[in-house]
Order: sequence, then structure tokens, then C-alpha cells
Amino acid sequence: MTSLAEHDHADAAAHALAAGDAMLPRPYRVVRTRQDTRDTVTLQLEPVDGVPLKFSAGQFTMLHAFGVGEVPISISGDPTKEGLLEHTIRNVGSVSGALVAAAPGTILAVRGPFGTGWDVSDGMGGDVVFITGGIGLAPLRPAILELLANREKYNRVALLYGARTPDDILFGDELRKWADLLGIVVEVTVDSGPHSWRGRVGLVTQLIPRIAFDPANTVALVCGPEVMMRACATALRGRGVPAASIRLSMERNMKCGVGLCGHCQLRELFICVDGPVLTYERLAPLMSRWEL
Ligand SMILES: Cc1cc2nc3c(=O)[nH]c(=O)nc-3n(C[C@H](O)[C@H](O)[C@H](O)COP(=O)(O)OP(=O)(O)OC[C@H]3O[C@@H](n4cnc5c(N)ncnc54)[C@H](O)[C@@H]3O)c2cc1C
Ligand code: FES
Repeated sequence: MTSLAEHDHADAAAHALAAGDAMLPRPYRVVRTRQDTRDTVTLQLEPVDGVPLKFSAGQFTMLHAFGVGEVPISISGDPTKEGLLEHTIRNVGSVSGALVAAAPGTILAVRGPFGTGWDVSDGMGGDVVFITGGIGLAPLRPAILELLANREKYNRVALLYGARTPDDILFGDELRKWADLLGIVVEVTVDSGPHSWRGRVGLVTQLIPRIAFDPANTVALVCGPEVMMRACATALRGRGVPAASIRLSMERNMKCGVGLCGHCQLRELFICVDGPVLTYERLAPLMSRWEL
């Protein structure tokens, strides 16, 4: 196993150099907030210096609530449009709690964007399958919007989405629009629902056999809890999708975001710079160590 000390220091130095000002936070003002679900809020932020952040779908920023702390949060906005920086945040602890409570006018700090992207355009000319659970729809949303900006260049597109309950379904209006107007097969399932719920109940993996795609010509983008991503990758492999065509977005605790501190290490990988989006081909050999 490669230790942190053995991790290629030339690489780390290159990361640091390439990072440039990446350790310097930039002030952003909260312009609008939207309560998406009981515990999840989308923040729209404008840079105080007026210079918009360019990013690739799948990248994240280090988002800082003054006096509380800094956490990695994926960008959930549209990478094809210059505009406000969007983050969709689930309240699970102290920093995410402070971020979801930030009212319009609050100043936050942003470093980044960091990490690898989904590269959804690799799916042009073929089929694309998005599979997501819970808050995982937020990091996938920029890739979906990027695809929709060039919908005619893709063949079949499906989005399989699992939420805890119907009340936890994110971006409900957009899901309907993507299905009704933009030719995406959208299948939603919940872990449990009230008697009035007429939709599906069950695991998102159970939706995979239901959709049509050409395995040899499909790119699959998967984002959610690791146990769910592992099950989805196994099911996709079972349908013949090559491991190199399955991409997962990994989560690890992060501090620097630029490959220097080692907090996010997963064996030889630093998830902040080698990921968060990685192919299943690269991740499969590490599977036995996942969630350690
Ligand atoms: C690359 C990357 C992208 C991310 N993108 C997003 C995003 O778009 N939206 C978003 O809401 N979150 C995202 N996260 C997760 C987010 O960074 C964590 O939820 C956050 O760091 C928690 O910090 P905290 O101080 O609020 O909670 P802590 O005080 O650190 O944790 C409080 C409790 O929540 C648990 N917890 C911590 N993280 C998670 C988690 N991810 N899921 C469930 N329970 C958790 C802890 O085990 C603990 O029990 C991302 C993480 C990474 C690495
Ligand atoms: S090396 Fe510091 S967060 Fe990845």
C-alpha cells in the first residue's frame, strides 16, 4: 500500500503550483436561497469581486462559513451559463447547518473549483444513464444540464433517482420538465412513502433492469452513498457496461482540497485532485477497502 509519505511528492508540489491561489478564499454574497426539502437548501452566490467562477460539471468548491468552518460542496448550477454560483446543501452538521441557514446578504468564502468532472460529453453519439440517490442529484445536475444544452447529440438518456421519501425528492419541477419536454426517461423510487404515494417504492438499483440502453455504447454517471454506488456499478457491469464507462463521484473528508494534506486519501488516490469523479475501472480494485 502506498503511504502518504510515499505519495508522489513531485505530484503534490505540482498540485500546489497548479493550485496557485487555490488556498485563498474569495468572498461571495448569498443572493437567493431556496428551501428544496426539509433539510436541503440551494444557495445562489455572487462573487463580491464580480469575476464569475468557471467550472466543469462534477467539480466542487471548499465553502466556508465564517466562524464555523469549511466543507467541500459540489457545484449544482449550470456550467454552460455564466451566472450565479449554485450549491445545494443538506444539513447534516455544524458547517452544513450554518450554510443552509445563511440568509441573503451573508458573506461566505469560496475556494476552487477543485477536482475532476463528469465529462458527460464522452457520451455523445451514444446512450447516457444517470443514477443517483439522495443529495447525489445535486452534483449530477450540472452534467444533466450540460447534456440538455446539446440533447440532439446523445441517443437515449435515462435518469434513475432514489430518495428516502417523496418529501425528500429534489428538483421535482425540473424532473418533470426533463421527462416531459426534453426526452429523458426519468424513473423515481423512494425507500418509503405514505399511502397516497402512487410512485415506486424500492432501491434505485431495481430500476436498472427496467431501462433500455446499448451497454457497449453507454456512459453511466453514478452519485450517491457508496453502498448504493457499489450496487449500481455491479448491476451495470452485469448488463455489460464496461468498467471504464462507469463513473462514480467519491466523498472523503477534506481539508486543503488541493492534494497537500492527505485527509482525503484512498490508498494511492487523493480524492480532491484524482477525483471526486473516477471510473469504476480505477475504483473497483479499491472496493474491499471502501468505507474503511
Ligand atoms: C467532493 C464532495 C462533494 C460534496 N458535495 C456535497 C453537496 O453537493 N451537497 C452536500 O450537502 N454535501 C456535499 N458533500 C458532503 C459535505 O461535505 C458534508 O456533508 C459536510 O462536510 C458535513 O460537514 P458538517 O460540519 O456539516 O458535518 P459534520 O459535523 O462533519 O458531521 C455531522 C454528522 O454528519 C455525518 N456526515 C458528514 N458528512 C456526511 C455526508 N456526506 N453524508 C451523510 N452524513 C454525513 C457525520 O458522520 C456526522 O455524524 C460533499 C463532499 C465531498 C467530499
Ligand atoms: S489532500 Fe487535502 S483534501 Fe485532499
